[in-house]
Amino acid sequence: MHRNIDINFDWLFIEGFDEDYVKVDCDESGFQTVHIPHNTRDIPFNNFDERDYQMLSCYRKHLTLEPLQDGQRLYMHFGAVMTAATVYMNGQLVGGHLGGYTPFRVDVTDAVQAGENVMTVVVDSTERDDIPPFGHVIDYLTYGGIYREVQLEYRHPVHIEHMLVQPRQVTEMTALLQVTFGLLNTQQQTGNVKLAIHITDPDGADFTVQRDIALSGDMQQTITVEEMLEGIHRWDIDDPHLYTITARLLDDHDEWDRMRDRIGFRDIHFTPEGFYLNGRKVKIQGLNRHQSFPYVGYAMPRSAQYRDAEILKYDLGLNAVRLSHYPQSDHFMDRCNELGLLTFVEIPGWQHIGEDEWQDVAVGNVSKMILKDNNHPSVILWGVRINESPDHDELYARTNAAAHALDATRPTGGVRCIADSHLMEDVYTYNDFSHTGDNAGLQPKRKVTKTQKPYMVTEYNGHMYPTKKYDDERHRIRHVNRHLKVMDAIQKDDNILGGFGWCMFDYNTHKDFGSGDRICYHGVMDMFRLPKDAAYAYASQQDGDPVLHLTSTFNIGEHEASLLGDVMVLTNCDSVKLYKNGHYIQTFYPRRDLYPHLAHPPVIIDDFIGDAIEQEGFFSKQDAAVIKRLLSFVSKHGDHLSLWDKLAMARLFIKYKMNRQDAEAIYTRHFGGWGDEATVYRIDGYKGEQKVASVTKSPAATAQLHVALDTDQLVEDATYDTTRMIIELLDEEGNPIRYANDAFIVETAGPIAVIGPKVIALRGGSTGLWIKSTGASGSATITVHSERFGDITKTVEVVKR
Ligand code: GAL
Repeated sequence: MHRNIDINFDWLFIEGFDEDYVKVDCDESGFQTVHIPHNTRDIPFNNFDERDYQMLSCYRKHLTLEPLQDGQRLYMHFGAVMTAATVYMNGQLVGGHLGGYTPFRVDVTDAVQAGENVMTVVVDSTERDDIPPFGHVIDYLTYGGIYREVQLEYRHPVHIEHMLVQPRQVTEMTALLQVTFGLLNTQQQTGNVKLAIHITDPDGADFTVQRDIALSGDMQQTITVEEMLEGIHRWDIDDPHLYTITARLLDDHDEWDRMRDRIGFRDIHFTPEGFYLNGRKVKIQGLNRHQSFPYVGYAMPRSAQYRDAEILKYDLGLNAVRLSHYPQSDHFMDRCNELGLLTFVEIPGWQHIGEDEWQDVAVGNVSKMILKDNNHPSVILWGVRINESPDHDELYARTNAAAHALDATRPTGGVRCIADSHLMEDVYTYNDFSHTGDNAGLQPKRKVTKTQKPYMVTEYNGHMYPTKKYDDERHRIRHVNRHLKVMDAIQKDDNILGGFGWCMFDYNTHKDFGSGDRICYHGVMDMFRLPKDAAYAYASQQDGDPVLHLTSTFNIGEHEASLLGDVMVLTNCDSVKLYKNGHYIQTFYPRRDLYPHLAHPPVIIDDFIGDAIEQEGFFSKQDAAVIKRLLSFVSKHGDHLSLWDKLAMARLFIKYKMNRQDAEAIYTRHFGGWGDEATVYRIDGYKGEQKVASVTKSPAATAQLHVALDTDQLVEDATYDTTRMIIELLDEEGNPIRYANDAFIVETAGPIAVIGPKVIALRGGSTGLWIKSTGASGSATITVHSERFGDITKTVEVVKR
């Protein structure tokens, strides 16, 4: 009796609202065909008016339905509709929902008929004062439309509305399984029914729990089942072991209903001295993630959501992510579970607390968030305050109570930016923007709160130092350094359980924020998830594959007064050897003196000449060392030698009968890098004695176009699929070229389409785009046309499942 049917293809959409749109016999000629996930109106990459997509709009879906069996119920399940939805079936109002970040379902049983039906969803994507996060300004866009998937649900008149799996007392081998079921008994039946729970994993585990349930006859009934399980395999960040739980309602003959989900067993414990996962202290290091993408906003299907989790885990090496500032896609959550990424999920909101009605929606959002995301083992904390709002004891007493009532196994947090604000939550979660480049990375906990409860930093950096991927080198290095400094402070302090940097990638925003072009350049990646240098501050902290990232191109002309200064290498290598034109210069080591608490402090190259002056044979060993010291000072700080250094230089001039030109010639030979020989630097990274990575920097003479797809197979199942394409210029050594803005025309053939414009330019040497499947299977191609570099064509296969 239980059946879910995906209905994401071939909806009709029209901007605006007219009463006719709700009617069965509406003239549909003005509608266009769209697939879900869908955004009301796509926006340019930047420089637009955010009021463009804030509109009333209508979606229509034609459904051919078989007759319902006796008593069977039919629901429409919406993953999320931004911001308010009103649902009509065959012209009859059947339900609606306020709030764009949580799922809802509408009972359409009494409005459908066997055969042809038409559903209309009227969507209000305006920023309504009665719905969080709206009412004042917010620093992100919320977009519009039916942007998460839709399903048709056939259910028995008695069925499971929700299933909350909350394991307790988890040890290495055992767990007390606790599952709370919300039963919906639409015909208020009484009698007995069996509840059978199966828990399985790919290793062949099979736990079975059975209970006889007496139906109370109430419309809603809550049943809690507890059972000690022996021989479990725990979920952990390094070993994210998942089980499938299937719960079935049965009588002696038939299965009435079934609900399935994936779960994990893990023990979490927040103490003032640390966060413990399965008894092991884990320092939380994460970033904040918005769920937005260029052009289409929130409307992206599974693979794009998966990819973000993979980037956080594998590319950036993080163990956690904060879902700022609202519950996000189930696909993203699923992937976090699979990868072992801890998540902090919070209710929608940003600084502003609205009137009573608004507050009721906010309190309701707590339950909706928990009902949506409870079963994910990755979730360690529920955020129950409006992000960065002032204290409001009455409201937060309600949100905390709502969270604790539904989930006694996880603590609450609530993100604030006001020191000494009231703590009604279990964990004090604070945005610490105190770092300004030269001071301490973070404030000590005691400066922020007197509480003895656990303390965690939920944002840092961000607006304190907006940085574009193509900002000048000095700016980019400062950006890197700010992240390193705060990361070091997080690791240092046992009273700080962890931190989440602001933020994973740049995002579109309202006029009141960002750089005026509707982008907040706060990410360690750009909007296409292409890394800025700061991304490597995180990536280099992981063990495993070698990371060797130079934050400099070694071009002196990029720097003030042509002074290159020191070069920072973000690496997890034990040492780094520098070669100049093939000659060994020096070995450098991670600067633990500067960043004592990082797993892998950066290496700083502060000597580009080694013993080259001495090797020339004109000077004694000691004098060569003095000359090197003096010229090296000039190369970093300009001609501002102290009196003592000037005297030392004068002594050398006399001793070796040199004049200023001679000194300048030495400088040019060894530091300036001007002249007929091109300077080639090679940097080799070593783990122990073994060379594991190498980067060569030479004055780039050529540029090559490089085009790559994340995957060349698109899979259509519940809905369409997407993949990202990266277009970048690389030099002859394979290094990214930062300052290139070349333009391209992108063209597709076959069942795919480009998301966004087809004429695009590089932004700081690289750019990205997503392509999507269009509802059919087959081979497709995408060609990048370039006047300068010729054409590059990639083939994509679209498969239907
Ligand atoms: C915080 C806010 C974030 C973002 C960030 C920028 O105050 O919570 O949403 O605006 O600042 O640094």
